[in-house]
Amino acid sequence: MKILHNHPLISYNYFKVHALAHELILIEREEDYAELINRTGFNKIPFLILGDGSNILFTRDFEGTCIKTGLSDISTIKENEEYAWLRIEAGMNWHSLVIKTIEMGLQGLENLSLIPGTVGAAPVQNIGAYGVEIKQFIDQVEALDLKGGEVFLFNARDCEFEYRSSIFKNRYKNRFFIKSITLQLNKKPSFNISYDKIQDTLGLLNLKEINAKNISDAVIYIRESKLPDPAKIGNAGSFFKNPIIDKTDFEGLKAEFPRIPSYQVDKFNYKIPAAWLIEECGWKGKRIGDAGVNPSQPLVLVNMGSASGKDILRLSERIKKDVAQKFGIELQPEVNII
Ligand code: EPU
Repeated sequence: MKILHNHPLISYNYFKVHALAHELILIEREEDYAELINRTGFNKIPFLILGDGSNILFTRDFEGTCIKTGLSDISTIKENEEYAWLRIEAGMNWHSLVIKTIEMGLQGLENLSLIPGTVGAAPVQNIGAYGVEIKQFIDQVEALDLKGGEVFLFNARDCEFEYRSSIFKNRYKNRFFIKSITLQLNKKPSFNISYDKIQDTLGLLNLKEINAKNISDAVIYIRESKLPDPAKIGNAGSFFKNPIIDKTDFEGLKAEFPRIPSYQVDKFNYKIPAAWLIEECGWKGKRIGDAGVNPSQPLVLVNMGSASGKDILRLSERIKKDVAQKFGIELQPEVNII
């Protein structure tokens, strides 16, 4: 394994802000995991597990050990007529996995095309897009307990998946290092094109056949047309979660703001697009210094040049305050703030 001291994290975060890691450990071989947990005093140090840095905001240096794996093997561990079970190591890029599964003739992940980040980070926040979430395909998550040194296998129920959340983001935050995941994917066609946007884009691109490749192409087209490319402009996708409010609160808001968009989650709860709340507060396309609100999707905050993590945090707090004042809704960050 590679151990780096006082190492800059600018190339390890999509916001492209400056911060230092007291120590950065890069896992390069399977044996490195044992070496890691056998280090003297390893379980007393604060850890931060890094993926690609596509969902993190550094507002300070990290005074402990950042760990990142580069292991990215993929193998089919079993299959039957209907399904294939793939084991993928945590360091693989998520979108490369999606493309690979499509090439293998497997279906399920196409709606999750172009989501930035690594395979290991995907279950942590139960990534989702266009009506699909990774939890639908998780068979197992293999995770190393950084406190005790043992490896545990979590099934989908153990992971306690929720909207943009799991046990690895809550109770076990920075406790378990995800080494690999096993996904159960369909060999037979089974698609979710329930979102109008996907159907409209398939039409727009003249993609007539409903298959994984065409749906993936449509999703890539949608994402590229509204989300800023992190290679060009620092951002970490949606900064806040879409808030979920109960029926009584929703009805109160609807009476006051009849145009408020909503999705009914269940009998008692409604999800409100945070993008709409932010736009209604006048923040769309605004900036404070180099910290800005993306003009085509205001749920995405951007680094327009040399914003620091604190600048972006400050902007997010201003937005949060305005949304709370106008709508009585507390926005929660989706991004992991350090
Ligand atoms: N909207 C506005 N103004 C805008 C843009 C959007 O008011 O300028 C409102 C509209 O009502 C629109 C609604 O927001 O219908 C939803 O917008 P969009 O379809 O872009 O999706 P989102 O709810 O903002 C979520 C995920 C995205 C995912 C998309 C597609 C969260 C926090 N974000 O965004 O995930 O790609 O749905 O399914 O759930 C991410 O997590 O980083 C991410 C990009």
